[in-house]
Amino acid sequence: MIRIAVLADVHGNVPALEAVIEDVTSQQPDGVLVGGDLVGRGPCGKQVVRRITEMGWRSVRGNHEDYLLAFRQQRVKSHWLTAPEWSAARWMADELDEAAARTIEGLPLTLSSHLAPELRLVHGTPRSNSEGIGPWTSRQQVEAHFSEVPEPVLVCGHTHRPLECRLPTGMVVNVGAVGLPFNRDRRAQYALFQLDGEKAKVEFRRVEYDIDQTIRDYETSGFLSHGGATARLLMLELEKAAPFLVPFIEWARAKGVTPLEEELGAFRQFYDPDEPFRAFACRLRELQESSRSVPKPPKAPKPLSP
Ligand SMILES: [Fe+2]
Repeated sequence: MIRIAVLADVHGNVPALEAVIEDVTSQQPDGVLVGGDLVGRGPCGKQVVRRITEMGWRSVRGNHEDYLLAFRQQRVKSHWLTAPEWSAARWMADELDEAAARTIEGLPLTLSSHLAPELRLVHGTPRSNSEGIGPWTSRQQVEAHFSEVPEPVLVCGHTHRPLECRLPTGMVVNVGAVGLPFNRDRRAQYALFQLDGEKAKVEFRRVEYDIDQTIRDYETSGFLSHGGATARLLMLELEKAAPFLVPFIEWARAKGVTPLEEELGAFRQFYDPDEPFRAFACRLRELQESSRSVPKPPKAPKPLSP
């Protein structure tokens, strides 16, 4: 029997990563893999990349590795390089050093392990690192993703919500997030697999960490003061273990306003993180219709997915 730990979505949260390193070490697995999104959505991406490299843990490339590389290499729309609503992305891209940038650029989109040939790791799905498998994904869709890999255990991250889906011929597991969970549990989360040929078991582990230190990192690094509305919303995500950034951008788009800090108060009055997504989407449509008669300010940017 082989035991493999898989962690994902650290998002520049060093205290959460250190707590997981300690827990993984105590569990003594045969191998450790990382499901991407080491950087982005948090202040200490460079340190996270360095620490994962020091541990000798291999990682796939998440969508946030791609986003920050696109900003560093100026492969984004030209106004994103100056617009205030993209200040957090620019700050996080600048925070990386050359070594970190080179490391994340070299990460593969999928990984397997010689220790566990029955396991395939991706960030989002086998075809994309910016689409996810979550509780809302239909069984039919899960089966379609599963059919794209030959291995009987498909492991992913990206949605920041742990999930286990058993299929007749194997299983799909989302390991949740280390640095920014969205399942209303602030603890750092990862998964420990027991693999024995066709049989596979997963244990979802949740680790307490010093979240106050992460908040201090937001402040002392300069991320909070330079990252605009995005940094404030990411800190809320950290504190509440729920999504705020993408709902804010969707709300701004529906309302026809630029997603800046001065809009946060109105958004907080509109948004309830515990409201079912369908009900929120329905209210957004109503908001969009009621905003149509109002003259339009500049269009809000397309939201970045988790
Ligand atoms: Fe993520």
